[in-house]
Amino acid sequence: MIEPRKDLLQIADLSREEVEHLLGAAQPFKELFKRSVKKVPTLQGKTVLSLFYEPSTRTSSSFEVAAKRLSADVTNLAVATSSVVKGESVLDTVDTLQAMRADYIIIRHKQAGIPNLVARHTGAAVINAGDGFHAHPTQALLDASTLHDVFGGSDFSGKRILIVGDILHSRVARSTSCILAKLGADVGVLGPGTLVPEHRPEGMRKFSDFEQAFDWKPEVIYLLRVQFERQGEQFFPSAGEYHSVYGLTDERLDRVRDQGVWVMHPGPVNRGVELADSVMSYERCLINQQVENGIAARMAVLYWLKPQLESTA
Ligand code: CP
Repeated sequence: MIEPRKDLLQIADLSREEVEHLLGAAQPFKELFKRSVKKVPTLQGKTVLSLFYEPSTRTSSSFEVAAKRLSADVTNLAVATSSVVKGESVLDTVDTLQAMRADYIIIRHKQAGIPNLVARHTGAAVINAGDGFHAHPTQALLDASTLHDVFGGSDFSGKRILIVGDILHSRVARSTSCILAKLGADVGVLGPGTLVPEHRPEGMRKFSDFEQAFDWKPEVIYLLRVQFERQGEQFFPSAGEYHSVYGLTDERLDRVRDQGVWVMHPGPVNRGVELADSVMSYERCLINQQVENGIAARMAVLYWLKPQLESTA
């Protein structure tokens, strides 16, 4: 029996058993999506509040669809047109919304640690939808759920997964490499020297170029988005230069196509930077499956977490 938690703040908090429980719980939801009616009554009468202080397409819409498919009532605070722009603090905003007795709060913020602060402040279940450079746990879960489908289960032992790009600024790299390692995968990283941290988790290999990385024979190439908006200084000469050295170009894809390499990317994609256009139509490109699995993974999280709110019934 896997006991529920109140919050989901980072993958590092979860045991392997908890991760496997969530991946297992996501599977029936994937089956549900094949039906004409894709809704279950599990969270009927519950309220989900969504607070995105940073832009999002995939995560915000995926959480909304996930909560609605569980029959919850969903309110998305439009931060840009809310009293946040008048200077209201995150905790005051949470207090105000808490007066509406939300059961779940989903929060994305540019500052690392804000979801933890909110979680300590409220009895609602808090889900980190991405905080600064720190963590993006539901991205990691949907990535693992996608690989669960590809590998046929949650034991990734002996699977080699190459993460390419801006490791330094990436909450996705941090969270996804953590979940992959928990499930037994070997993780390697490749990126500009300025964007690959010197201190890496034990066992995480670093490659200097694609040649060296391809010799390792990765089963999966996970391309990270270059986060131009987070880079206060220039870490590489130009987007074109980045593509020529660290991008998945037509030529590089041709080299690994016959090996059946899978390609992943969390989105949004910078075409011509992290990857060539042709990669998007490559038969083993998993980007759309990642988005689709995001709904099931987030349904599993909402289903599992347990708010600690007082109620009379
Ligand atoms: N992968 C991801 O977090 O995408 P969004 O920024 O669109 O939510």
